[in-house]
Amino acid sequence: MTVVKNICCIGAGYVGGPTCAVLAYKCPDIKVTIVDLSEARIAAWNSDNLPIYEPGLDQVVFECRGKNLFFSTNVDAAIQEADLIFVSVNTPTKKTGMGAGMAADLAYVESATRRIAEVAKSSKIVVEKSTVPCRTAQSMRTILEANSTPEIHFDILSNPEFLAEGTAIKDLLNPDRVLIGALQTESGIEAQNALVDVYTHWVPKDRVITTNLWSSELSKLAANAMLAQRISSINALSAICEATGADVDEVAFACGKDTRLGSKFLKASVGFGGSCFQKDILNLVYLSQQLNLPEVADYWQQVVTMNEYQKKRFVRNIISTLFNTITNKKIAVLGFAFKKDTGDTRESAAITLIKDFMQENARVAIYDPKVEPQQIYMDLAEPGVLVGAQEQVEKKVQICQSAYEAADGADAVVIVTEWDEFRDDQLDYAKIYAGMNKPAFLYTKDTVTMDRIQQTSGAKSTQPTIPTTRITTKTAVRPTRASLARRDMVQKQKQQEQ
Ligand code: UDX
Ligand code: ADP
Repeated sequence: MTVVKNICCIGAGYVGGPTCAVLAYKCPDIKVTIVDLSEARIAAWNSDNLPIYEPGLDQVVFECRGKNLFFSTNVDAAIQEADLIFVSVNTPTKKTGMGAGMAADLAYVESATRRIAEVAKSSKIVVEKSTVPCRTAQSMRTILEANSTPEIHFDILSNPEFLAEGTAIKDLLNPDRVLIGALQTESGIEAQNALVDVYTHWVPKDRVITTNLWSSELSKLAANAMLAQRISSINALSAICEATGADVDEVAFACGKDTRLGSKFLKASVGFGGSCFQKDILNLVYLSQQLNLPEVADYWQQVVTMNEYQKKRFVRNIISTLFNTITNKKIAVLGFAFKKDTGDTRESAAITLIKDFMQENARVAIYDPKVEPQQIYMDLAEPGVLVGAQEQVEKKVQICQSAYEAADGADAVVIVTEWDEFRDDQLDYAKIYAGMNKPAFLYTKDTVTMDRIQQTSGAKSTQPTIPTTRITTKTAVRPTRASLARRDMVQKQKQQEQ
């Protein structure tokens, strides 16, 4: 029976870092070394200022670092020492060549795999952790097997990560499930059992699912595609709600009460963002095309198309309420990360929205509590601009230190990321309103936030909202007795979920 004593994780990013930090925290008998090619990233992991913001991460890292958790740029040494290696490198969408814009770029996975094959001096279990298209393990296996010898044998496992950013530590400490796929050979199953033993240090055995390699790879894409599909479905319904007077929160609540549907992932939004959903669905679309299943490809493509439509629709609504022009108007954007409690901006809806505002020649002021200005400049620069991105973007946008600074003199405030600090009990909306250019408008997709802001900023709940407060959204509805009751229901439901 193989017992894992030494783990290496290649890639100290959003997945590898938190995952292996929690692993070290829960398995004090295992030495965990996280390596990365980026010296800056490793230096940050070894400092007081970790490169990733994730609630609870500091505590886990500070507790184990230097004991059984190490961060290093010495990739080769860590590979040689380890019995088990997680490959947790980036798999961005290909920008050029075959499958451009859809297929995952596997260059980083391949180069990490080749490195393992080159430097390993003993047998290893290699675990595919990055989200990869179905059957990537086959390519990894071919590379590793071409380099195996009678003394050195490689086993490949697929162990996709289901953590969501912002709740990564909570998700890792208490996962719904852990999925481990292996080739159904004797040594494949032995390797699978070895990884099961690592996880059962803290995860109940019935939550550790073992499958074949390909089921595991496809399950990750499938789970993300299905979650994103729910968001696109509710967002599509939000358009119908706006046209008919139905309230999308009420619709989501009523649908979510059907236990066959469930209440989660039914929150209408400006559109989903993040590094996974769009990328994984496009991977699925590409896979379907490759398998000559065009109807299946079109079906999943529509989830992404709907997401783009939702972002565009939000921008169109904003421009139309601002009297059909935003030229030279100041728009304050609150939040830039793709969701709250993370500094990650990959595929954030804020990027699309702000680029559209810039196209319309608006003056944009941005505030986000966790995203570094440098990141915002890079995200908003024209594609391919590596040098001078800051200067190019600085002409059009202002990055602010607070929500008040961003909103000062603004014609409109747009809440893009629902950070807790933008909630009405933490931000003084009367003060925001007072500093704004009149008539002042506020946009958020969250109708609960909207109802409350309208009240705290001075609106009387019994009066029609738009003319009285001038702080409104296109979808604004007067908080009626029914909507207040519904709000209470939603809040109660949230409390139950927590
Ligand atoms: C997702 C999956 O949840 C996770 O299991 C997988 O491992 C990686 O991809 P993540 O992208 O970190 O995680 O965040 P998630 O909470 O799923 O949110 C993704 C996007 O959907 C965000 O932009 C969020 O604001 C949006 N969203 C989520 C909605 O618009 N409505 C919802 O009801 C839920
Ligand atoms: P994810 O969200 O999947 O974790 P990230 O981009 O945050 O993606 O992290 C991936 C990390 O992998 C990056 O820090 C990158 O420098 C690192 N990386 C990529 N290729 C290699 C490699 N061959 N060896 C070591 N680290 C690598």
